[in-house]
Amino acid sequence: MIDSVNVIVDEAAIEHNTKLLRQTLKPETKIISVIKANGYGCGLTQVAHTCEKLGIDMLAVLDVDQAVDLRNDGITLPIILLGATLESNFQYLIDFDLTQAVINMEYAHKLDAFAKANNTKIKGHIKVDTGLNRLGLKTYEEVRSCYDLEGLDITGIYSHFVEAQSYDGDATEFSKNQIRRFNEVLEKLHDEGIDTKMTHMQNSPSIIHFGDLGYSAVRCGMVMFGLYHPSQLNESLHDGYKPVLSMEARICMVKEIKKGEFVGYGRTFTATQDMKLATVTAGYCDGVMKSLSLNGGGVMVNGHHCPITGDIAMSQFMIDVTGIDCEVEDKVMIFGHEDQTIYDYIQITGQSINELISLIRYTVPRIYVNPIK
Ligand SMILES: Cc1ncc(COP(=O)(O)O)c(C=O)c1O
Repeated sequence: MIDSVNVIVDEAAIEHNTKLLRQTLKPETKIISVIKANGYGCGLTQVAHTCEKLGIDMLAVLDVDQAVDLRNDGITLPIILLGATLESNFQYLIDFDLTQAVINMEYAHKLDAFAKANNTKIKGHIKVDTGLNRLGLKTYEEVRSCYDLEGLDITGIYSHFVEAQSYDGDATEFSKNQIRRFNEVLEKLHDEGIDTKMTHMQNSPSIIHFGDLGYSAVRCGMVMFGLYHPSQLNESLHDGYKPVLSMEARICMVKEIKKGEFVGYGRTFTATQDMKLATVTAGYCDGVMKSLSLNGGGVMVNGHHCPITGDIAMSQFMIDVTGIDCEVEDKVMIFGHEDQTIYDYIQITGQSINELISLIRYTVPRIYVNPIK
């Protein structure tokens, strides 16, 4: 069956990007692949299997339901939950052998009590808040006291950058301060003879910005999937990371309209001449945002850029194909093509890269090309 809309995932590109990432890192540095947001749009379980094949050391997701899906699909890699698992779901941490982020003291005590009540230990990585003010423990004393909780098996400790993608002097100083604060905590723990086990702080932008900072692992998503913050685009291209994702739909109807006719809901487009239109089988319910049409964007058909005419609707939109040779069922490249990269696309929609990949509907069928062994 031909799908009306697809996301194409190039597995060989993930492999290529992972090899490049490894070359950037010290040989002993482990890789935790962050595959939240449906595996950065590539499909959660499929990408997890790809990571296993690529020898990735650990997976990171946000929610316990994603982790349970992975285990039910046969994934045996260690999995860390970067988000807060609700207390009502703590049993899953034990049953599915998951590692939980320890996000504050109250939470640490809840995990500890639950584990003890079940005569077991729950694996945890302590999250140190060095500036994001999202999750994490703030003081050394709090961090230190987690190691005394008998219900917790602390197998790692980590922090998270706020804006490592920025090369602005003030932002870089902020990132360096975060590094200093995290290192101070680690040093104090070492001074007290505590084995911190897995230490990790670096996401993709920080690896591109600072190189390998020497923690035992990196925790990254974007670079594996060939994605960058626009501020790092030139550096990344220079590094040779390859795009992984593209999105395409189909033409389902081609027709001629007369000068003066309106197109789409709200009559936002009026034909200034007789023209040929094509109707496309995707819309905002798939993740093709209205802002693409509102900001004058287009798509690629048979190598030609075709402006969107009128507003994007829930599952369809119209494009101007005047003078272009095309027919029903032809592919419509929404992004991913070299003539309309994901970066060209977000420049028009005003989204961030992560917003874009998160908003592609989960149920849009993913097609995996160039499979790896
Ligand atoms: C806590 C945490 N660690 C790591 C990452 C991975 O970041 P990136 O995709 O930039 O490598 C994320 C993603 O937002 C995150 O929230």
